[in-house]
Amino acid sequence: MTTTLIQGGTVVTATETMQADVLIDGEKVVAIYASGAVGEIAVDTVIDAGGKLVLPGGVDVHTHMELPFGGTSASDTFESGTRAAAWGGTTTIVDFAVQTIGEPMMAGYEQWMAKADGNCAIDYGFHMIVSDVNEQTLKEMDVLMGEGVTSFKLFMAYPGVLYSNDGQIFQAMQKTAENGGMIMMHAENGIVIDVLRDQALARGETDPIYHSTTRPPITEAEATHRAIAYAELAGSPLYIVHMSAKEAVAEVAAARDRGSNVFGETCPQYLFLGWDNLQEPGFEGAKYVCSTPVRNWDEGHQEAMWKYLATNDLQVVSTDHCPFCMNDHPVLGTQKRLGEGDFTAIPNGLPGVEERMRLIYHGAVSEGRLSLNLFVEVTATAPAKMFGLYPQKGTIAIGSDADIVIFDPGVTTTMSVDTNHMDVDYSCYEGKEVEGKIETVLARGKVLIDNDQYLGAKGDGKYLARGTNQYLI
Ligand code: URP
Ligand code: ZN
Ligand code: ZN
Repeated sequence: MTTTLIQGGTVVTATETMQADVLIDGEKVVAIYASGAVGEIAVDTVIDAGGKLVLPGGVDVHTHMELPFGGTSASDTFESGTRAAAWGGTTTIVDFAVQTIGEPMMAGYEQWMAKADGNCAIDYGFHMIVSDVNEQTLKEMDVLMGEGVTSFKLFMAYPGVLYSNDGQIFQAMQKTAENGGMIMMHAENGIVIDVLRDQALARGETDPIYHSTTRPPITEAEATHRAIAYAELAGSPLYIVHMSAKEAVAEVAAARDRGSNVFGETCPQYLFLGWDNLQEPGFEGAKYVCSTPVRNWDEGHQEAMWKYLATNDLQVVSTDHCPFCMNDHPVLGTQKRLGEGDFTAIPNGLPGVEERMRLIYHGAVSEGRLSLNLFVEVTATAPAKMFGLYPQKGTIAIGSDADIVIFDPGVTTTMSVDTNHMDVDYSCYEGKEVEGKIETVLARGKVLIDNDQYLGAKGDGKYLARGTNQYLI
């Protein structure tokens, strides 16, 4: 087995910051010791991390590679999307397999396993999107638990597409209360949103900004409140995905204060983007259309999200990576432009899997909102614990997978589509300067990125059968 020593860096975990050397044997971390405390040891490779941060590989628990959605399909495949993730310092993803309405859930699971198998650059697991809660599906939730798919996403939005009604939601929660799984909720009141949407269109309001005005904060807050009420009644853990409204996170905070197992996730788009972006001229605003929507800066949602991360009312920053091209995908075409003249036809979703770690480091550490350890917590450790992957993933510890990022905080880099590797023709953060460079990335001991070169291969990533939530109160 190959041995590697990462020498002279500052090793950062969710709880510690230390000058330490990390010894890797094969795929695992086997020793961590004070820098220079041990004399010279014979290893195959020495990586000099002097002046750099040695971080756990990022864990992004919300991606949608190849997702069929909005009449098209997310432009990153498992191959391109996981390679881009590696470039960005993310070494584990949890993606969403989807049940087709009217078909068994297991068929969706098998389909997504086949899409990912042999194609991924980094390790991956699956959640299951339950599109059709019925007697058969409820039984299949038990089967999936045995396959390491221990979290199930339901939608209170998108009536007629992915939507579940309150009874279905409650039944699924009763099931996870019984089998140890967790419900992930897309919490937006889709019924009310559809009324607001139709009224906006009737008034001739067709531009991208109306995607956000027709999904006001109360539609997120009300759905979040309702989902929490049902989860508390059923006794199921609940994780609210992609949160953007401060009123909605207040519902999560209140539930946590009551001692409930309720958790919340936000994403870089809700920390850095807003209505200015949706109002960019010439249909450029379509780039930022996603649900829940990016919100009005003047209402203070973005800073509230940072504050809620600091107070542990939000626990995770994922990406909800779901890219669609604006202008020139060779196969998929001008995807976002499907909604020119009708914002309701803009495919919902945006890219981010490659940009999350640098963006969050910058907003958190460089700009002084969260500590370095909390940055590691929300981007790696908490997501790994939340979805049953810890301590194999999400930390640097003896026995953990050697998923490690060597990060240079002294270099300023510029976000750009020209330097990104995601299969999408824009960056939501074009031209943004951030402190920090992802210099070297190891996944299970193998160097995937070094010196601006990709050294990995399709199929390096393996399926992760996950355990249950390790973050429960
Ligand atoms: O706009 C979004 N979020 N697209 C992806 C699907 C989802 O709801 O997560
Ligand atoms: Zn969603
Ligand atoms: Zn999503």
